[in-house]
Amino acid sequence: MNLNRRNFVRSLGVGALGTLAAPALFSKDQLVVPPAPFTPKPLPAYDPKHDADFWRAVRAQFPLLDEPVYLNTGGLGPASQPVLEKVFATMRALQKHSETGHKSFDPARQTMARFLGVTSDEVCFTRNATEGNCIIAAGLEMRPGDEAILESHAHPGGSYPWLNQALQAGIKVRLFDPDPASPGGNIARIRALVTRRTKVIQVSHITCTTGLVMPVHAIAEYAQAHGLWFHIDGAQAAGMIPLNLDAIGCDSYAFSGHKWLGGPHETGVLYLRHSRLEDIAPTGIGAYSGELLRLPGELKYSAAASRHEYGTRNAGLVAGLAEAVRFQEQIGRDRIAAHGRELSSWLLRELGKIKGIEMLTPQHDELRASMTTIRHTRANADKFFEYLMKTHRLRCRPVTEQGLEAVRISTHVFNSHPECDRVIAAVQASARDL
Ligand SMILES: Cc1ncc(COP(=O)(O)O)c(C=O)c1O
Repeated sequence: MNLNRRNFVRSLGVGALGTLAAPALFSKDQLVVPPAPFTPKPLPAYDPKHDADFWRAVRAQFPLLDEPVYLNTGGLGPASQPVLEKVFATMRALQKHSETGHKSFDPARQTMARFLGVTSDEVCFTRNATEGNCIIAAGLEMRPGDEAILESHAHPGGSYPWLNQALQAGIKVRLFDPDPASPGGNIARIRALVTRRTKVIQVSHITCTTGLVMPVHAIAEYAQAHGLWFHIDGAQAAGMIPLNLDAIGCDSYAFSGHKWLGGPHETGVLYLRHSRLEDIAPTGIGAYSGELLRLPGELKYSAAASRHEYGTRNAGLVAGLAEAVRFQEQIGRDRIAAHGRELSSWLLRELGKIKGIEMLTPQHDELRASMTTIRHTRANADKFFEYLMKTHRLRCRPVTEQGLEAVRISTHVFNSHPECDRVIAAVQASARDL
């Protein structure tokens, strides 16, 4: 529960080499010089006989530079050119008439609903995963002393909304450590924390620390059987693995568009099961949340999850997010998951053999996907991260949460086998150098 503040700030990458420290990684000129025009060729159809050619063509869709090698999709996912073009074209078109373009949310909502296996009235467009988590934590009726169960590896965007309710409403947050040994171990740990005051279980679908995949179907079944709200923080899952939220059986699910989905920055989605709509009291509302044409009068919320959207938005971002969905569908969602997992499995196998390196990502097949987290036995997270970045030009992410002192490697559609070779060689060298 006491995520210490220094570790939190480090984990967010606010330190010398993190996400917010672009000037330390790139010269000022590199950031302000406009990029040359970039028009990738259309993506070819997938041919299993020319698998590597297909992935090269996918890579060519991204303006992302080859150096440093980008292995931090779990932090922020680069957008492809079709997505960026959609954002810019939409914004340009709207600026010509100075319109908000809010109506274009409807088709984007349908696209997103199809992608998630839900109906469009269950989709709320947020600005990031945290916003969705906040809507649930602040909106669910809980009395002082009521309890929420979370995993101890929750990202601040997942834990702070509940810790805020602890401060503001007197709820209790109870934590379990993720079990890397078996899916059932995680259910057992949750079960051990349930009391008659438990109201909600929240887990990260995939933890941001070790990339552990939680057994969400089984947790949903348990939560349903015990009348508990089940919320999933899917920031690391949406766009990494195929999702069918209706089939999972959770009550709500929040994720970012700007990670594995490759959507524009500041995009996100909250899924709220239609039958549970009235159980979440809206906390932030305004125009578009409901109907009331003339004051005084009683506000009627709209009959959809979009009641949690309000005010003027950037329709270009939402159009770009829908384009990111189409782009992933074009590549193939199972294919994306298989590619990321194949690269990660290979890293898991090869890095696991290196003396002085500990593998923190679970070995269990069902508990892992496209992220690999390793610890150097003689270097802390920052030192190891800095070494990989400065000496080998590999952009990973330090993992300082819960004292893990590790480095996380994300492997996604634009990553390749040669890049993983570089990771393996670099980590081998680190075992000598550090
Ligand atoms: C599990 C998890 N939840 C929430 C977040 C925060 O995401 P956002 O910045 O989109 O709110 C992250 C970011 O890494 C995460 O990994």
